[in-house]
Amino acid sequence: MNKTTFLNLREKVKQTLMLLVFIFFSGCSSDSISEHQSKPEKTNFIISKNSQLANSVSEKTRLVYRRYCTQCHGIGGNGDGVNAPYLVVPPRDHTKGDYLETRSDQHLFEAIKFGGLAVGRAPCMPAWENTFKDETIHSLVNYIRELCDCKAL
Ligand code: HEC
Repeated sequence: MNKTTFLNLREKVKQTLMLLVFIFFSGCSSDSISEHQSKPEKTNFIISKNSQLANSVSEKTRLVYRRYCTQCHGIGGNGDGVNAPYLVVPPRDHTKGDYLETRSDQHLFEAIKFGGLAVGRAPCMPAWENTFKDETIHSLVNYIRELCDCKAL
């Protein structure tokens, strides 16, 4: 092998290695892009009537409500979600205090955790005990108190 052939060969090996390195890194970056895309998108949150309570309700709680409850209870909590017309019993209007202030926070907590039937209400209010931690359910109760601008019994 003369010197030119050796140099050509060395150049080829170098190019191949660089190509491999490039493929390796571009593979990684496409992974991180898909990870980035799966992040939850920003949503506009409901502006609360009670600014004092609003501070105690985190954005995360509002997002949980928006994701899991609004299809029945409505985006504003008025009970006018997209599924509402198909339910035998209308979803509770979370903005109205007249019923909610006759109920304790414990009642609301149990209604969310164990479902409507567990508290003597309609079974079409689902149970969320396998979906949320107690902490999240407590914060949902606080959020509902904010929506109705009402106090517990
Ligand atoms: C499949 C529809 C549906 C979804 C989803 C749903 N609810 Fe309900 N919810 C209902 C219905 C229907 C009622 C009314 C039950 C009744 O009046 O007997 C209700 C009632 C309630 C009540 C009042 C219980 C009572 O004493 O009447 C609370 C509190 C409540 N829902 C919270 C939530 C929260 C928080 C979420 C989300 C994590 C949620 N709901 C998701 C249908 C739904």
